[in-house]
Amino acid sequence: MSKSVRAASLALLAGAVLATAAPQVHAQQIATQASVKTSSKLGLGRPALPEEIKAWDTDVRADGKGLPPGKGTVKQGDALFQERCASCHGEFGEGAGRWPVLAGGAGTLTADRPDKTIGSFWPDLSTAFDYIKRAMPYGNARSLTDDEVYAIVAYLLSMNDIVKDENFELNDKNFTSIKMPNATAFFDDDRETSEKQFWKKDPCMKDCRSAPKVTGRAISVDVTPDSKAGPKVD
Ligand code: HEC
Repeated sequence: MSKSVRAASLALLAGAVLATAAPQVHAQQIATQASVKTSSKLGLGRPALPEEIKAWDTDVRADGKGLPPGKGTVKQGDALFQERCASCHGEFGEGAGRWPVLAGGAGTLTADRPDKTIGSFWPDLSTAFDYIKRAMPYGNARSLTDDEVYAIVAYLLSMNDIVKDENFELNDKNFTSIKMPNATAFFDDDRETSEKQFWKKDPCMKDCRSAPKVTGRAISVDVTPDSKAGPKVD
């Protein structure tokens, strides 16, 4: 038996051992889970542990609720951004290739093709903190410490000309004092008043309008396979 063949069969053997061991591990896990008191009617699942809830509960609200203690400067954020983010988002947030753009776009919101970035569009800075902490860097989410997230968000503010000083430090105390340029363009859902005319007490549920008139079929422009079936064209 050659060395490599032997290595391969050893690996196979190891696989077989693991495969037989797996059911035992599984049974053990089930036994452990069963011993945790279940509260549901069906006896399924178990209450989440406080540690699990804490790990999930990372949302940060616009009013700053949920911000963890921490701090970071623009300068520190610059270094981190170049290392962890620039390969996709570009050195200055301009976006590498077709990856998302994170900076610029000021004044483009009314253009045909607006550049919606954190600086030009996002109404609250908390969204940047929450999202980056939760989801970035892409493929290695939740690898940043809170201080690193503060520093990177400070650098994003600088790239978007919202803060000018590279020594500016963003922290949990001054976070909510940052006003985003597009903050005032967002307003609460006002459909109950602005669309009041559409809300009727007795909505029409039957024969509300006459049947539409078919004036053409996709087949005539050659985009559907030929078939005799289909509605008659008027
Ligand atoms: C491997 C590429 C990659 C890396 C590295 C990366 N990102 Fe992203 N980023 C993405 C992709 C892809 C999206 C869009 C994800 C989606 O829409 O679901 C995104 C979205 C974002 C957004 C939201 C943009 C918007 O306007 O919707 C922010 C903010 C962001 N990334 C920040 C960061 C930061 C900060 C880092 C570094 C810590 C980072 N990203 C690293 C690929 C990357």
